[in-house]
Amino acid sequence: MQGWILNRFPQHALRSDCYGVHRLLAQAQQRNIGIRVVAAHELDIIAEGQGRHRFLLAGQAVAQPNFLLNRMGSATSYFALAVMRQMENAGVYVPNSSQSVALVRDKLHTLQVLAHHGLPIAKSMLAKYPVNIDLVERELGFPVIVKTLAGSQGRGVFLCETRHKFEDLIAMITTSQGNPNFIIQQFIAQSMGQDLRVFVIGGRVVGCMVRKAAMGSFKANYSQGGTVLAYPMTPLIEQLAVRTAKVLGLEIAGVDLLFADQGFKICEANSSPGFRGMEQCSSVDISAEIFNYIELRLEQGKFANQV
Ligand SMILES: Nc1ncnc2c1ncn2[C@@H]1O[C@H](COP(=O)(O)OP(=O)(O)O)[C@@H](O)[C@H]1O
Ligand SMILES: [Mg+2]
Repeated sequence: MQGWILNRFPQHALRSDCYGVHRLLAQAQQRNIGIRVVAAHELDIIAEGQGRHRFLLAGQAVAQPNFLLNRMGSATSYFALAVMRQMENAGVYVPNSSQSVALVRDKLHTLQVLAHHGLPIAKSMLAKYPVNIDLVERELGFPVIVKTLAGSQGRGVFLCETRHKFEDLIAMITTSQGNPNFIIQQFIAQSMGQDLRVFVIGGRVVGCMVRKAAMGSFKANYSQGGTVLAYPMTPLIEQLAVRTAKVLGLEIAGVDLLFADQGFKICEANSSPGFRGMEQCSSVDISAEIFNYIELRLEQGKFANQV
């Protein structure tokens, strides 16, 4: 069996801090799976008539793998999505499909789909110019969260404690750049500085942890210096996380849940969640879980190909 990991960096330039990719490589080698890391920019894709799909790697024709695992998450470019679509059309198994990766890369689209399926979310608006501050205050109140449509590791998320701070931020955004799209979201005070990260693989929860922000921060991301602790599963957490992954079409998902008055609100879902924190605070082996699932799906030989 041959598999490719679609990554931002090619195999020869893999940084030592790419924990997840290194773990996946080691796991594949242990299982005698031929595995290689491929960066989207190393590939050329050629679509031809008669149902032919060709792939070139560093300019040379290359056989298609049995599966393509995307580890680019919200950094998945249009080119990477096109590679995934061509692989899907060529019959390659692509766990997390191009469609689901594109969907969760857009946090507003994600929230719209979750809301449509009756899942709990923080009330959110897409910014419209000129931003009507009174309307934001009326609908969401202050403090309020401002976040980019795409982003990860807490980098595009901002907390405006007061109306004044929000006015300042909007003034800065509108003067510095040409009306970028962003989300304005109700701040879930009860979750201040902590959230849950739930790993769902193949419709099953395989791990759950609570993340606590570093002192002075409201962002619970592990990559922002947060600490992690295994968290006991409950039927509610399980149901929310599994349904979230299902309605978004994610076979491998890191679902973020915010603590809220009556249970939880779904913050976002990640299509290629990092797993250093989860493996550090529990005995769960995420790379093994991912390959157990991929092997099972390839054995079954049934996967919906994109058109
Ligand atoms: N509406 C909110 N209310 C309270 N905290 C939030 C809210 N949205 C995000 N956060 C905090 O910020 C962190 C990062 O937000 P998130 O939308 O998951 O961005 P990223 O994709 O960068 O991880 C979350 O893990 C959570 O701790
Ligand atoms: Mg997050």
